[in-house]
Amino acid sequence: MDLKANIDLDKLPKHIAVIMDGNGRWAKKKGKPRVFGHKNGVQSVREISEACAEIGVEYLTLYAFSTENWSRPALEVNALMTLLVETVRREVKTLMDNDIRLAAIGDIENLPSKTQKALLEGIDTTKNNKRMTLVLALNYSARWEIRKAVQDLTEKVKNGDMASKDITDDIISQHMSTASIPDPELMIRTSGEQRISNFLLWQIAYAELYFTDIFWPEFRKENLYEAILDFQNRERRFGKTSEQIVL
Ligand code: FPP
Repeated sequence: MDLKANIDLDKLPKHIAVIMDGNGRWAKKKGKPRVFGHKNGVQSVREISEACAEIGVEYLTLYAFSTENWSRPALEVNALMTLLVETVRREVKTLMDNDIRLAAIGDIENLPSKTQKALLEGIDTTKNNKRMTLVLALNYSARWEIRKAVQDLTEKVKNGDMASKDITDDIISQHMSTASIPDPELMIRTSGEQRISNFLLWQIAYAELYFTDIFWPEFRKENLYEAILDFQNRERRFGKTSEQIVL
């Protein structure tokens, strides 16, 4: 079946977020080191970015490194940081050719300086691209950004810049690292795990969650189309009844 042809382009999720999981287990299954899984995961990043841009998804956010990932063996952390630098540098041309803007969320200032530099250069070079925004979540965790938003807001209230009663959902959203990005409508996690793992907790209030057993290095365009079709077959009620949605 041609999955892509069945996608309703008028009902695409504007923003898809992905927890790219299973690199290590995929590599282990093949008798290879974990880093081999991460390296192969880059091809999936490429394919899924391309597929999203092709069909018209406006934002794609990938969970590439969490604040908790620092506790992995140093060898793996270093390999991931090197892979990020290499990938961002190598892919800037592809991003330019495809009119894709690179963005990042997370505690970027506390990434190794080489990673930061490559990332900021990529973001700057692609800043005027319009077709899609590819957001890398790096040194990111939802609790980190919520804590930061609370600190920023309490500081503003303390300084008399705003009153606590004026803190609305919108104001809180504006203090998240995703301030200029619409909330994801679809969140995908690969590898069979069914958890959110501290990813975009505020932003996924109404997102549809999609879990697949496929390990990230094997996730291909067809798998993305399947997730989008599944999303399009769900009824999104936002707290209302089915009858209210039909009307
Ligand atoms: C999760 O698999 C994957 C990661 C923590 C890293 C993802 C990174 C990449 C795909 C490479 C670079 C990405 C970009 C955007 C350039 P895991 O290691 O947790 O796997 P496991 O659950 O099987 O151990």
